[in-house]
Amino acid sequence: MSTDGRDAKDRQLDQHRTDSTEPLTTETGVRVGNTDNSLRAGARGPTLLEDFHAREKITHFDHERIPERVVHARGAGAYGHFTTYRGLADRTTAHFLRGPGVTTPVFVRFSTVAGSRGSADTVRDVRGFAVKFYTEEGNYDLVGNNMPVFFIQDGVKFPDFVHAVKPEPHNEIPQAQSAHDTLWDFVGLQPETTHMMMWLMSDRALPRSYRMMQGFGVHTFRFVDAEGRGTFVKFHWRPLLGTHSLVWDETQRVQGKDPDYNRRDLWESIERGQFPEWELGVQLVEEEDEHAFDFDLLDATKIIPEEQVPVQPVGKLVLDRNPDNFFAETEQVAFHTANVVPGIDFTNDPLLQARNFSYLDTQLLRLGGSNFQQIPVNRPVAPVSDNQRDGFAQHRVHRGKTSYFPNRVGGGCPALAEEGGYHHYTEKVEGQKIRVRSESFADHYSQATLFYNSLADWEKEHLRAAFRFELGKCEELEVRQRVVANLNHVDHGLAVNVAEGIGVVPPSAEDGTPNHGRSSPALSQANTTF
Ligand code: HEM
Repeated sequence: MSTDGRDAKDRQLDQHRTDSTEPLTTETGVRVGNTDNSLRAGARGPTLLEDFHAREKITHFDHERIPERVVHARGAGAYGHFTTYRGLADRTTAHFLRGPGVTTPVFVRFSTVAGSRGSADTVRDVRGFAVKFYTEEGNYDLVGNNMPVFFIQDGVKFPDFVHAVKPEPHNEIPQAQSAHDTLWDFVGLQPETTHMMMWLMSDRALPRSYRMMQGFGVHTFRFVDAEGRGTFVKFHWRPLLGTHSLVWDETQRVQGKDPDYNRRDLWESIERGQFPEWELGVQLVEEEDEHAFDFDLLDATKIIPEEQVPVQPVGKLVLDRNPDNFFAETEQVAFHTANVVPGIDFTNDPLLQARNFSYLDTQLLRLGGSNFQQIPVNRPVAPVSDNQRDGFAQHRVHRGKTSYFPNRVGGGCPALAEEGGYHHYTEKVEGQKIRVRSESFADHYSQATLFYNSLADWEKEHLRAAFRFELGKCEELEVRQRVVANLNHVDHGLAVNVAEGIGVVPPSAEDGTPNHGRSSPALSQANTTF
């Protein structure tokens, strides 16, 4: 999208904006002169069924709620634009990344994960960082988080994980993600969660502001160039205000005084004209280096250390406009990892593959059927021409008599694109049909140690205190003991400190994997190079 494209989404939304300045009407446009009294038989008599205005008003109200997102239910969003510093045409055919100075409109939604729509902002939790780029080649969604790794390696575990994280089913307590038996039970039994749990117990889980939060695509994705060559890519967002957290006691006070703390901060900063900004960076890995690391690029519980592959800045994201209507825009926006454009493709990361199924499926339910891409916030600015027809709340008036391919009758069926069509990366795949986890996903501790060693002393103490506080609330001693045993593989001192703080037997040093001893200043919050 050229510099002119910056306002393309705004212009499109203009066609849908409505202001209530006209006289009151029904949904069918009939003027209403009295909305205080229902139509009744006599001043004190029963209400009449024929009162179409009252029935319409009440029925519509009865249907105002839609299901909240099954995760990431609470969020805040804003519009803005993304402008490239430099082109990546040597790596990807994606037009919005092709050259310097290309500007693309975006909508971004930040979220907490575990709490319900009305829960507080400043809880200890992961934050979602989802970006919809309205590119001239179609919508591209980068659906990330504020932490670079994830709890599980395979999406088939996602329902288990979320059931363990969400409030317990018998009494719907607690709303707070990190302080209950079922979460710790799951964590203790699934050592692959260890690295992410280190991030969750760190100050990264308490962002001071959405404006001061990093974002990560988490998975390894794939760029594809004009010759069909692939490059592995990890995406990073770096806030230009720096990365800042609250401390635990602050979060507790803020929750009581202003549960909308992060949401309000985003809204007000945009209203004041202090537009939040992030830099997009990429880590690029050649296809032939796929196996050059001591972890698997397809494993979403791993980062690529920045000293091994530096992050290269690509462009800047600016959020400069608040939505007009929370429900219409922030609630109805539908992000999906499979919303890709030519030049960006997936890898075989089993977590990503499951996400590519899950988002569309859940949105078909959440947004009431198959036409939710026509909701204004979801509409691409690129032209849409397909053979999909009908369904609930169809807004398009398709002309012509054909909606199939191929046809010779003409008059309505789109032709295949002669150029610019999406081509999936040509990857050789072979193997037996088996339900196993690759051995290359087996190391659950080295990078957890790497992360711990990268923290400053005060960051380490915050993390230890969080483990003591959160795990200490778990009633089952056996579960506490199991988690401590996992931590012993990360760092013996950490495990002993936590054990002593929560009344379980400190593990012996021999029972832990020897400390892997690697430290990465590039990973530290204080020392983040990008
Ligand atoms: C929602 C990120 C893993 C299923 C979201 C949202 C974000 C996100 C940011 C909120 C989108 C919004 O603002 O509307 C991530 C990341 C993951 C991950 C970074 C791992 C790296 C998964 C997995 C699944 C999943 C493995 C399922 C297999 C969902 C669902 C929603 C959601 C169902 C609700 C979507 C909606 O109702 O619109 N995720 N997620 N996520 N995620 Fe994930």
